[in-house]
Amino acid sequence: MCGIVGYIGNKEAFPILIKGLKRLEYRGYDSAGIALLNGSMSVFKKAGKVSELEKVTDGQHVSATIGIGHTRWATHGEPNDVNAHPHLSQSGSLAMIHNGIIENYATLKEVLKKRGYVFHSDTDTEVLVNLIEEIKKQENTNLEDAVRIALNEVVGAYAIVILNRDNPDQLIAARKGSPLVIGIGDQEFYIASDASPIIEYTKNVVYLDDQEYAIINRDGTYTIRTLGNIEKSHEIIKLEMSLENIEKGGYEHFMLKEIFEQPSVIADSLRGRMSAQHGWIKLGGLDEYMNRINQAERFVVTACGTSYHSGLIAEYLIEDLARVQVEVEYASEFRYRNPIIGEKDVVIAISQSGETADTLAAIELAKDRQALIYGICNVIGSSIARASHAGSYTHAGPEIGVASTKAFSTQVTILTLIALQMGMTKGTISTSKLRAILYELENIPKKIEEVLKLDDQIKEIAAQFKDARNFLYLGRGYNYPVALEGALKLKEISYIHAEGYPAAEMKHGPIALIDEDMPVVFLATNQSAYEKIVSNIQEVKARKGRIIAVVNRGDTQIRDLADHVIEVPETEEILSPLITIVPLQLLAYHIAIMRGCNVDQPRNLAKSVTVE
Ligand code: AGP
Repeated sequence: MCGIVGYIGNKEAFPILIKGLKRLEYRGYDSAGIALLNGSMSVFKKAGKVSELEKVTDGQHVSATIGIGHTRWATHGEPNDVNAHPHLSQSGSLAMIHNGIIENYATLKEVLKKRGYVFHSDTDTEVLVNLIEEIKKQENTNLEDAVRIALNEVVGAYAIVILNRDNPDQLIAARKGSPLVIGIGDQEFYIASDASPIIEYTKNVVYLDDQEYAIINRDGTYTIRTLGNIEKSHEIIKLEMSLENIEKGGYEHFMLKEIFEQPSVIADSLRGRMSAQHGWIKLGGLDEYMNRINQAERFVVTACGTSYHSGLIAEYLIEDLARVQVEVEYASEFRYRNPIIGEKDVVIAISQSGETADTLAAIELAKDRQALIYGICNVIGSSIARASHAGSYTHAGPEIGVASTKAFSTQVTILTLIALQMGMTKGTISTSKLRAILYELENIPKKIEEVLKLDDQIKEIAAQFKDARNFLYLGRGYNYPVALEGALKLKEISYIHAEGYPAAEMKHGPIALIDEDMPVVFLATNQSAYEKIVSNIQEVKARKGRIIAVVNRGDTQIRDLADHVIEVPETEEILSPLITIVPLQLLAYHIAIMRGCNVDQPRNLAKSVTVE
């Protein structure tokens, strides 16, 4: 998720762009850049935060009344100066900024290379801006038509703004799958990923719809067209939200925004990596080491906190689908216990931040003993990503809330693809089973949307438990790690003590805790262990425990037993964590809010634990 801004009008563009980029840093901040048109095209770009970019522009000629700017959250190519946006076309006449992922950029790049284009960066954006230039030349057409023709050729998601050196009175913007808003001033226009860079100048905005582009002119006129070249008119909306509210996407907290982003970021994490129709999975980082991974006698998954919980799900997935032994270890334990680890082992290191000290140390130990390290991170170019031999990035976008939510679900998404790919390569799952699971995986974002619609019901349940002093979370199979994760969510943001347990383990001790003051959350969607879960629920009910049950939609049996039932869409059992975790995230969020806690920055916690 990157941040883009553009300006055309009668004011100095530079301060508007820089201030706008700072407003968007929450969307991405591994590099930043601007392009200004003041007789000639001036491009300034730098790895790091916007403040680094400002240092580069100090003393430079930055007076212009038209320009574009970008803060990057890398998806293709390391976060460095060269990969920072804007990207110029080969002739230098076009500058482009882009938020999104062009899935077929590699194919397009090969075609352009054969036509003599030379690329300087690893980005998909540089490919797109040169595709537009090539089409403009080949079709001998204007920029507007070249943009439309090019965008009809690309597969993926984009929000782009293009600055044309040969026309200082126009900007062209387009979107598909990534947000773009146009602020309308008095003979001036502001363009941005969201309204936060715009709202201090104008509250009148127009939101582009998918597969639309806008031609924005200095004379105060603008035209919106579809990629089918049909002119559209959009209602001008008057913004009511506060600036802070906009940065949170209209949500009260980043954590809630990130819970609600899960459908789109899971879709982003799948994009270009699988095809249910054709039955393929393509995880770039895996291919190069596929032989070694297939010969591995054991996988060791190491991580901390929420990432450890997604690692536990990986154990079920990989042993279930690929029939390879998996051990899951807390990184902080693994690194100090002199583990048996060697060249026949593959270590999967999972980390949202990519900077967790214990996980990094665990990797270094395993590397020293010749194990292969496969990293799953959310931050491109992070220490753990760089320390790994190979890896895959979750495309969750920046996760600002300290309590990890969308990172967890995108980690589980990637781990599911890894297990499926291994199963396919080893022949331990049939093609038909693979395709059935991939089709269902494609459906998961829609099913999570359905669960998110239960937010009001979950909020009502939260109100009845906000004063609880303890919670138990119980699950079996794939839902056991979800029980652990649900408990962690509650305790880290509401400060209520909560424990996750395998449901069957309850009678080996925790059942002594059950009474009318003990809320017990059951994850009861498992088809394979359903009757056993029902028995566990009856055991708790018999001891007056207060039961909240997450069940498959239409489940009537548990509805008669539980005090509160949250019905979620049924899915493949191996995919159920992606569904069952969502009510638990919302339950924790609402209880914490009702207790007056700071959900985005809970006490004593840091977003990234870079110390031991
Ligand atoms: C999860 O909600 C916590 N914020 C914490 O447990 C976190 O998952 C853990 O510190 C690991 O962080 P990482 O994924 O960035 O390595």
